[in-house]
Amino acid sequence: MKIATITLNPAIDQTVFVDNFCVDQVNRGRAMQHDAGGKGVNVASFLADYGLTVTATGLLGADNATIFERHFAAKGIADRFVRVPGLTRIGVKIVDEARQQTTDINMPGAEPPAGAMDALLTTIDALAADHDWFVLAGNLPPGLPADTSAAIIARLKARGCRVALDASGAALKAGLRAGPTLAKPNLDELRQISEAPLTGNGEVARAARELCAGGVELAIISMGAKGALFTTATGSVLAVPPPVAVTSTVGAGDAMVAGTIAGLIQGLELAAIARLATAFSLAALARVGAHLPPRAELEASANRVMILAPDVLRTTAA
Ligand SMILES: Nc1ncnc2c1ncn2[C@@H]1O[C@H](COP(=O)(O)OP(=O)(O)OP(=O)(O)O)[C@@H](O)[C@H]1O
Ligand SMILES: [Mg+2]
Repeated sequence: MKIATITLNPAIDQTVFVDNFCVDQVNRGRAMQHDAGGKGVNVASFLADYGLTVTATGLLGADNATIFERHFAAKGIADRFVRVPGLTRIGVKIVDEARQQTTDINMPGAEPPAGAMDALLTTIDALAADHDWFVLAGNLPPGLPADTSAAIIARLKARGCRVALDASGAALKAGLRAGPTLAKPNLDELRQISEAPLTGNGEVARAARELCAGGVELAIISMGAKGALFTTATGSVLAVPPPVAVTSTVGAGDAMVAGTIAGLIQGLELAAIARLATAFSLAALARVGAHLPPRAELEASANRVMILAPDVLRTTAA
């Protein structure tokens, strides 16, 4: 069983540690760190740490690809990224440990040159021959139409592959119309596509069932510390994490997508999938970067996840 992740707009996460950071002043940085990032890259990292065979593809700027290449080599991820001229975008995160504040500066990324998408589609078609699962994660770079995700999903489904979609806004809405096997919107993303306030668990559950009615086999609505609702055509469970100290919220959702696929591949039942996926997220929250602890620790964490049945959902308010 092989899995490929597709990241159309990856990013290098540049974390700068500055105590007592002030705008409009000269600040003294204490340390700096660069990590290969982007949602699909994170999903690939979690899956590889779990011991699965993973390929990462998408579009990567040739001028600063080394950091990604080192990361893929360290994790044992097969690198099938299409190189494009120029730089992959860099997102700056200013971490002020003294004041416990984080300031993010996210860039849109560069517009892919003509021909880059054709090269990527050729790569995706080749990967479809021997990869069972694809994960399409993250937003689109500027210049690509919103239906790009939908076109990729339709292409992969026509080749008999299963596809997970983790996107937001117009790309999520368009992608859902192509009927991905799995979708994991968070509550904000679900609100964007259902254009409703979704104030109670009942309303969230109904929106999840609508995603399933539209062709999604497993819809996961993640709700931060409140947990996640896992819904299929035949059942639904709410997985509530234990209270935890959060080191970094980066990649909690990406870890949940990876853990879900790890569970599905092993043929686990819905509640066990929800436990494992939540354990992946808890692992992401406990450390900087997309890394998993050993399996024994993951299993201990999975056992601490509370699984609530659907009848509870109808009666509790969010
Ligand atoms: N503060 C927290 N405490 C406990 N668990 C959390 C917390 N935040 C997130 N989680 C766990 O991680 C899962 C995914 O988190 P979340 O809903 O924030 O995803 P997301 O918004 O898609 O994140 P991402 O930024 O990675 O896209 C949650 O369903 C929950 O299980
Ligand atoms: Mg997310």
